[in-house]
Amino acid sequence: MEWTRAKRYLPYDQWSAERLLKLQAQADRSQYQLRYHIRPKSGLLNDPNGFSYFNGAYHVFYQSFPFGAVHGLKSWMHMTSPDMVNWQEQGLAIAPDTTYDSHGAYSGSAIQQGDKLFLMYTGNHRTEDWERIPYQLGAWMDKTGKVTKLPQPLFKNPAGISEHFRDPQVIKANGKFYAVLGAQTASDQTGQVMLYQSKDLLNWEKAGFLHFTDEKLGYMVECPNLVKVDGKYVLIFCPQGLSQEVSDYQNIYPNMYVIFDDINWDTLEAVNPSPLYNLDGGFDVYATQAFNDQDGTAYAISWVGLPDISYPTDDENWANCLSQVKELHLKDGRLYQTPVSGIASLHEFEQSLENTPEICAVTDNQYELELTIAPNQQGNLYLQTDKDLKHGVKLTFDTAAGYLALDRSQTSQPFNEKYGLIRSSRLPAQQAAKLRIFVDHSLIEVFVNDGEQVLTGRYFTSPAASRIAFDQPVNYRGHYWDMRPI
Ligand code: FRU
Repeated sequence: MEWTRAKRYLPYDQWSAERLLKLQAQADRSQYQLRYHIRPKSGLLNDPNGFSYFNGAYHVFYQSFPFGAVHGLKSWMHMTSPDMVNWQEQGLAIAPDTTYDSHGAYSGSAIQQGDKLFLMYTGNHRTEDWERIPYQLGAWMDKTGKVTKLPQPLFKNPAGISEHFRDPQVIKANGKFYAVLGAQTASDQTGQVMLYQSKDLLNWEKAGFLHFTDEKLGYMVECPNLVKVDGKYVLIFCPQGLSQEVSDYQNIYPNMYVIFDDINWDTLEAVNPSPLYNLDGGFDVYATQAFNDQDGTAYAISWVGLPDISYPTDDENWANCLSQVKELHLKDGRLYQTPVSGIASLHEFEQSLENTPEICAVTDNQYELELTIAPNQQGNLYLQTDKDLKHGVKLTFDTAAGYLALDRSQTSQPFNEKYGLIRSSRLPAQQAAKLRIFVDHSLIEVFVNDGEQVLTGRYFTSPAASRIAFDQPVNYRGHYWDMRPI
């Protein structure tokens, strides 16, 4: 199908149920389909939205275009879970069915207020001349999951801010509510994080820009969110067009974070901010959303996918997934991300490992592998590989020099080659390396040294190969578990 503008923005009720069912069946049959991560039933998934705890369950929504693998008319799809691992789909929560969100119910967040969950999001509206108006919108979700939109927008882009003004994250701080938004200045197109404030979630006024760096943040910031982690603030955000001199990143757009001690709420200055750090050392993490749960613990979930990049499953009319949920902590001035404890509830069968070059001859490419590689070891670990180690995803390591790389250059369906096929990072030299590797058919998540780094990537290679093996003798210990599908 040719994705004309008219097709992309066709109202949902004009698509046939038959087409949707066909697309769902096609996605489900895909050899690349994930089985224990949140993935679209059909069409395209992007940003996680409204990640929260409410009414005894965790909630996450995601940006969805169910009718094809393109960025068309977006809505919010709703998932709930008792443990942030076992997710259940609850259906469409916010449809793009009003004037204000006529061209997409874009990204936003959720916060509990009384016995309801307040959803705040950007309504993407286009005029007949295709001029974009970003409306910041509100809706209430009750305990039955029923969503009622507020009849009027909360606010629009203020003077001096272009049409690129979106992705509000509502937080409680300084005795009121703040909305943290991505913004672009109209005069010189620079990316900014802007704060609005409110006492009641309904009446909002501009607070100003959040000052947390002297660097120029490219031409736009998307999906900013502010969480408290172990007593400090962490701002997670996606600058577009950031200079490679500010931060070394290879993806088309990075997902970054900054840590600061506090915020001066009068001047909106971050107190003692860190430099900008890359949130994920892999290929595809973007639009990560974090929140503090009822105990104050911070959790994050990411879109595994990037804007303006095509993925091989586009040909099968579906695209992308969400990462697993990561618990956040601070250590030595860096953000540590670890799998939530509930992930172990998916373990089905355990095997202990020690020093054998072949870890598993046959798997169903749906597992967790935990390895401690001894100091002074070098080699390549092949996943989803064949007898000759010709194809597959590769982890190259050197625990003497301190090096780790995620390499998708030997996969049978390489893609996005323009931005490189290898992502490398440093390990502490001459020390053991602890890896928790999660594989889900076409997704790999590698947690390094208790979450000091995470390397996430999609990869597309023949499932006929499913072997896990080192290419040479390596001194290591570990465990393998099959993962139960959700
Ligand atoms: C980031 C983003 C957001 C926007 C949403 C639209 O991936 O572009 O800025 O709200 O996706 O789907």
